[in-house]
Amino acid sequence: MKGVNVGVAPVTYGQGDRPPRGDYARARSDYTCEQDFARYTEADHDTYRRLYARQLQQLPGLACDEFIAAVSQLGAPERIPRFDDISERLMKATRWQIVGVPGLIPEEAFFALLAQRKFPVTDWMRQPEEFDYVVEPDVFHDLFGHVPLLFDPVFADYMQAYGAGGLKASRLDACELLARLYWYTVEFGLIQTKQGLRAYGAGILSSAGELRHAIASSEPRRVGFDLQRLMRSLYKIDSYQAIYFVIDSFQQLFDATAPDFTPIYAAVRQQDILEAGTLLPGERLFAPNR
Ligand code: PHE
Ligand code: FE
Repeated sequence: MKGVNVGVAPVTYGQGDRPPRGDYARARSDYTCEQDFARYTEADHDTYRRLYARQLQQLPGLACDEFIAAVSQLGAPERIPRFDDISERLMKATRWQIVGVPGLIPEEAFFALLAQRKFPVTDWMRQPEEFDYVVEPDVFHDLFGHVPLLFDPVFADYMQAYGAGGLKASRLDACELLARLYWYTVEFGLIQTKQGLRAYGAGILSSAGELRHAIASSEPRRVGFDLQRLMRSLYKIDSYQAIYFVIDSFQQLFDATAPDFTPIYAAVRQQDILEAGTLLPGERLFAPNR
């Protein structure tokens, strides 16, 4: 098992054999809570500082420009930032806010927050022995991985649309199909740019090793984004991904996911499920970017 710095999607809440980590007694009915800033120890701030420094130096040539341009919006890299300070900047940029949560939350609560342009951020920090690998998303994954792209207007609108789409998928019993879209875009998405292949998915950008694996290794497969094909594709939660889907632009992603998914879910249900990493006949692979 390789150390992935978390790609666990909030949709796995309650499906595991252990309860989610975190103190849910302090959460409100929408699962949000105050960021428990007083609880952070100097060791927690130090873990944040070291994780941030390690990821930041890897970004050039591997992360997309929109991410690199916005990462400084997280504030000073030496200490865990205050969520309210980031929200103030985010609200001005794209009308999003970040809200604290005790950890993974049920999918309907998650969708409802996204639909209100509120991004839930886990407030606890991983322990030092989890530096390379943490099983559930922590404050570093949620902030560093997800928040910079919320400063991009098109990506920000996509995230809200995803939340509204999630509430609808719950009614259509299609959350499993929609979760694959989150996984292969928001968590593990790649984008083709003029300078070459880059990562925009939070699971990649917050991972020590997956950035290079996703962009530069010849091991995984990389195929063009195709909504139905993607919704048929299983994914790995305990290793680097075997396949990545490549978009041309956030606008392409937004436009491809704008139509009503009701007939799309029905069409996907008629087709075979694909094991993680399956390549279909005639499918063109993107070359790694070394
Ligand atoms: N268009 C989707 C629907 O009708 C909603 C959606 C938008 C889902 C963007 C995901 C991302 O269900
Ligand atoms: Fe995540």
